Amino acid sequence: MSAEPIRSGSEYDPTSWPEAKQVPGFAGDTGEFATLSEADVRGSAYVGQRPADGGHASVAGTLPYQVATSRADAPLFVGPYEDRLEKVLSRYPDRQAALLPALHLAHELRGHLSPQTQDEVAERLQLPPAYVRGVATFYTMYNLAPVGKYLIQVCTNISCNLCGGDAVLESFLKHTGTDLGEVSANGLWTVIEVECLGACGFPTAVQINERYFENVRPENVPAILERLV
Ligand code: FES
Repeated sequence: MSAEPIRSGSEYDPTSWPEAKQVPGFAGDTGEFATLSEADVRGSAYVGQRPADGGHASVAGTLPYQVATSRADAPLFVGPYEDRLEKVLSRYPDRQAALLPALHLAHELRGHLSPQTQDEVAERLQLPPAYVRGVATFYTMYNLAPVGKYLIQVCTNISCNLCGGDAVLESFLKHTGTDLGEVSANGLWTVIEVECLGACGFPTAVQINERYFENVRPENVPAILERLV
């Protein structure tokens, strides 16, 4: 390995690096692979102009999604959601093993898992309510209280932190007029801080509902919010 030391401290601002201007899709400081483009790193499907609504669909299919159409009073497991639950149940050896995906469905539909929703899931899966409560409250990815129509998850873990994740978080809080975890007065926004979104090569990574936004800078925040409403 003959990698040059990676830039550090105040030099760690990729937007100021000459390579970022010279190489379209510059993939950041990749050490001995300094000339790799974004296409080389992640394949051409993700490269180029970002879609007009910003970001791309999250590839983290195991995460419980928040969708903009969620309704806390939506009936649980009827119509297509009953079909999806049946498919889930068919894939697992018993109902207990199907609990996480069943909670995902309820979360997607209602936006959060209230105690009542947890009890309904327990009843549908014929599991003890206390068991469902224990699982639902163990994982931080489930919202246990209502959130805004758009749940903004800003990564401030190491890779994103080095590239200004804290400033991106501050910018989202400022432009939504909220404190961490709070629902904005218009019901649109909740901003939270997360440990890692698995997009460490494209900091700062932000997930808004089921979509990913990458290489986000504080000054990008107003345009991202405008696109959503
Ligand atoms: S450190 Fe931010 S996505 Fe992993």
